[in-house]
Amino acid sequence: MFDLTGQVAIITGGARGIGEGICDIFCKAGATVALWDVIDEGAATAEKISASGGSIFFQKVNITDKACVDKAIDKIMADHGRVDILINNAGVIRDRSFMKMSQEEWDTVINVNLTGMFVATKAVFPIMKEAGYGRIISASSINAQAGAYGQVNYAATKAGVSGFTRALCKEGGRYGITVNAVAPGFIKSLMSDSMPEDIIKSGIAQIPVGRIGTPTDMGYTYLFLASKEASFISGITLHANGGALPM
Ligand SMILES: NC(=O)c1ccc[n+]([C@@H]2O[C@H](COP(=O)([O-])OP(=O)(O)OC[C@H]3O[C@@H](n4cnc5c(N)ncnc54)[C@H](O)[C@@H]3O)[C@@H](O)[C@H]2O)c1
Repeated sequence: MFDLTGQVAIITGGARGIGEGICDIFCKAGATVALWDVIDEGAATAEKISASGGSIFFQKVNITDKACVDKAIDKIMADHGRVDILINNAGVIRDRSFMKMSQEEWDTVINVNLTGMFVATKAVFPIMKEAGYGRIISASSINAQAGAYGQVNYAATKAGVSGFTRALCKEGGRYGITVNAVAPGFIKSLMSDSMPEDIIKSGIAQIPVGRIGTPTDMGYTYLFLASKEASFISGITLHANGGALPM
């Protein structure tokens, strides 16, 4: 098990789904986790993980709101004095065919999936630079490359995450900061549960390992990139999809 003892990790969108899986695995690896989410459910998730021994606390944070992000960071710095890891996991979908997609549906997805990542990363980067160490890992998606009907907004943001990652790794390297992305395939969560049953079935049929991924699978994927041992890996998008997409 990669050891995160003594490190502080912020995990955005940690209240449920993949984010909850990351929080759980990072706590088991010894990190102190700041669970950020815009929904109150984050409090119950943090309580559940802490009841099984994890060091975790909930902060109600909307990642698109700079003042809110800065306030949460100030509190972490006052209480713990460090931020070693940022996981930009929070994301939204507003699926609709291109012809019917509204500007609002476009803007919302861009705002959370791209601007939210920018705001959260801006807030931690100087702290990591000062410390000479950092891990920034953001959520892309299999659909950045594969595309998906009704997801021009979502696919554009998830491809954007990989571009952001490639570019920021050039700036982070000299400060000991690695910047990577994870592109999950088909993972069990509220987001995937909301899809029609036939889409779910045909999605699983296309996965060579023969099953849907789990938030725990994703937790271990993020843990690897967040570990000290992954210090020579930067700028990549790691595809975790059970073999669904040929690389
Ligand atoms: N589930 C999948 O199959 C899948 C596949 C590829 C990529 N992803 C990506 O992985 C990430 C997690 O996906 P999931 O399936 O667990 O989704 P989810 O909807 O279950 O969880 C996303 C979390 O982000 C939070 N969030 C949304 N807007 C926020 C904001 N402005 N500020 C703070 N938190 C906010 C939500 O409240 C929620 O708790 C997303 O970025 C998603 O795009 C998921």
